[in-house]
Amino acid sequence: SPFTAVVPAAGVGKRMGASLPKQYLTLDGRTVLEHTLDRLLGHPAIARIIVATAEHDSWFPALAVARHPRVLRVAGGRERADSVHNALARVETEFVLVHDAARPCLHPADLDAVLAAGRLGDGAILACRVRDSMKRGDGRGAILESVSREELWHALTPQCFATVLLRQALAGALAAGCEITDEASAMEWAGHRPRLVEGRADNIKITRPEDLGLAGFFLQQRIESEQ
Ligand code: CTP
Ligand code: MG
Repeated sequence: SPFTAVVPAAGVGKRMGASLPKQYLTLDGRTVLEHTLDRLLGHPAIARIIVATAEHDSWFPALAVARHPRVLRVAGGRERADSVHNALARVETEFVLVHDAARPCLHPADLDAVLAAGRLGDGAILACRVRDSMKRGDGRGAILESVSREELWHALTPQCFATVLLRQALAGALAAGCEITDEASAMEWAGHRPRLVEGRADNIKITRPEDLGLAGFFLQQRIESEQ
């Protein structure tokens, strides 16, 4: 059955510190957002993409993909969760996946895996295992203790769920004023237990200036391995 992809792209990219939001920076000749949307448009099960952009965003309409018949634009909100909430109102399919505009290196095999797992039970998210030793600080710059990384994961996107479940969870969590950093956190708040689907660590979220070069390297590697 078909999926709808929701792509939150209404952030300002404060940590990137560029003159325009990071999703509109150029990577290998195209914007980060175009790379990301191409990854999703290329999947046969994704029927439509809903992109949440800032209300007065003038960059998105300048992209050819803005006129793609399977791409719809909605206004984003103050926080990422508000942007996703606005887009969810327009989803008509049974299942939905949410994927950050700032993650252009998504691998097709990972997308397949999270879509398959997302249709079952409480849904699923892409995640990768923490590699470094983990420490809890004491709030004054010293180590309080070591934390076992055995069951620690980085939450990535896409995150995929039954649309009704995510809608209820997100509306509830937003109304309760709890902090929602990703869709899974809203699902957890509602008592659900989404699955962790182990994905590639190169599915990075472009966050700081050095990440742009890293994403460019990963994309180039991908092109070479596909040849
Ligand atoms: N996002 C959104 N609406 C917001 C805030 C963020 O749609 N109100 C989107 C961003 O565009 C990005 C994704 O959510 O694709 C992940 O957020 P993040 O990496 O934090 O992006 P920014 O908020 O733009 O960056 P920063 O936090 O550094 O300002
Ligand atoms: Mg942010």
